[in-house]
Amino acid sequence: MAVGIFDSGLGGLTVLDAVAKRLPDMPLAYYADSAHAPYGVRDADDIYDLTTKGVSRLWEAGCDLVILACNTASAAALRRMQESWIPREKRVLGVFVPLIEALTERQWGDNSPPREVAVKHVALFATPATVSSRAFQRELAFRAIGVDVEAQACGGVVDAIEDGDLILAEALVRSHVDALKRKMPNPEAAILGCTHYPLMQDVFQDALGAEVEVYSQANLVAESLADYLTRHPNMYGSGTESMFLTTGDPAKVSNGATQFLRRRIEFVKA
Ligand code: DGL
Repeated sequence: MAVGIFDSGLGGLTVLDAVAKRLPDMPLAYYADSAHAPYGVRDADDIYDLTTKGVSRLWEAGCDLVILACNTASAAALRRMQESWIPREKRVLGVFVPLIEALTERQWGDNSPPREVAVKHVALFATPATVSSRAFQRELAFRAIGVDVEAQACGGVVDAIEDGDLILAEALVRSHVDALKRKMPNPEAAILGCTHYPLMQDVFQDALGAEVEVYSQANLVAESLADYLTRHPNMYGSGTESMFLTTGDPAKVSNGATQFLRRRIEFVKA
């Protein structure tokens, strides 16, 4: 049994960490497409090609179920993959839905019509590709009415995190929060719509102010995966080993991952 976790780089490790805590006995195969990160500045066809390649590699590693721990791939490629690419016995799940279910106070899989919810003003921070896809607003509209979403494309933040330049990442986050606040001065909630951003969550919270509730995906995705596997026990794949695969330089990616997760992580070439 093994579950695959896919991201363009280090950001999906925030999801991997939460899943490893929630399902400690589950082998996890992680794929970081570091050679092609960031995805957030690529077009949809390019993101689709890279994502299907990475997910195929995780099928080979013995996973039947892959989590796209990447909002950009979830926004730009997942629907197309589900329509025509994923074999019948495999599953690929994105990271938007658990977050939107939490924001709209829904139970998992509640497909009732959209309704009014408590939060009215929501700030969305995401990559340029995720923002321009409007996938978050589309998923939200299936579940809630009357929510005003202001999206801020956070150019440069993923590159700075991948390069380990956290001083630059912090400066960029603060300037993106300022830009958002000029458009929406008083958001009630903020969504970190990129799995890299929880690595900067304290900076987002500090720049937004303590009164803004900041939602990030890692724990929500881990809970929803645990629930999914209880309902679909046949989706545990045949793989038995945890592994960390990268298309980039394994030594550099291992160092970045070790710094972020504060435990030794060894990547190998994908
Ligand atoms: N961590 C990813 C996301 O959630 C990808 C960011 C990128 O590669 O630009 O969107």
